[in-house]
Amino acid sequence: MTAAADPVKLMKQEVGKAAAALVKSGTIVGLGTGSTTAFAIQYIGERLKSGELKDIVGVPTSFQAEVLAKEYGIPLTTLDAIDHIDIAIDGADEVDPQKNLIKGGGAAHTREKVVDYLANQFIVVVDGGKVVDKLGSIFAVPVEVIPMAMTPVMNALKKLGGKPELRMGVKKAGPVITDQGNMVIDVRFDDIPDPVNLEKTLNNIPGVLENGIFVNCADIVLVGEVVDNQPVVRQL
Ligand code: A5P
Repeated sequence: MTAAADPVKLMKQEVGKAAAALVKSGTIVGLGTGSTTAFAIQYIGERLKSGELKDIVGVPTSFQAEVLAKEYGIPLTTLDAIDHIDIAIDGADEVDPQKNLIKGGGAAHTREKVVDYLANQFIVVVDGGKVVDKLGSIFAVPVEVIPMAMTPVMNALKKLGGKPELRMGVKKAGPVITDQGNMVIDVRFDDIPDPVNLEKTLNNIPGVLENGIFVNCADIVLVGEVVDNQPVVRQL
């Protein structure tokens, strides 16, 4: 495939590969969710198969990551069986210059936050279109909410100045149901001047399980770009 044929896919592939190359033998690896991380999981599996990488164990952030890890032969564990995570690799929907993120485009941000925040090193993999000056520029903030609290949470989000919308399924009638059995409200804000505070404020609404603002947690952001029709990976 050439960059001209599908540049976004190629960027995701290269950035996933670059992140997979950072994984060392004998480590515990957080496996993120989304189409970019899927390439990282694939390449980690290939490195294991070739013998270049040994003795790693993965902690999945979603059913998607679990299925992919099994497909590519990565042994899995749970947080009950380990006392640390060495490295986590995960995608994002937006990244600002301070490496703050919006995540949750795949409705997996709750488990992702648990795993990514626990990791000693958190690697974010994105294509160039995700890098923004200010969070909220292009993407709404996903908020996972327990179903019985939907209406009061919607009202609280409106009071905060947000425009909330219940996320609906694709190839499934009705709302998206998360891996935990909850729903997701996508909230548009005209401006997010203080992501650190907004993250806390959203999580303080009774009935909210977790929101997709990730602050002060990313160590390395790898950005895939196409330059002169060739994929390149740069560090933010
Ligand atoms: C999953 O809920 C998300 O946080 C993803 O990590 C994020 O949406 C990035 O996904 P893509 O790599 O598919 O863009």
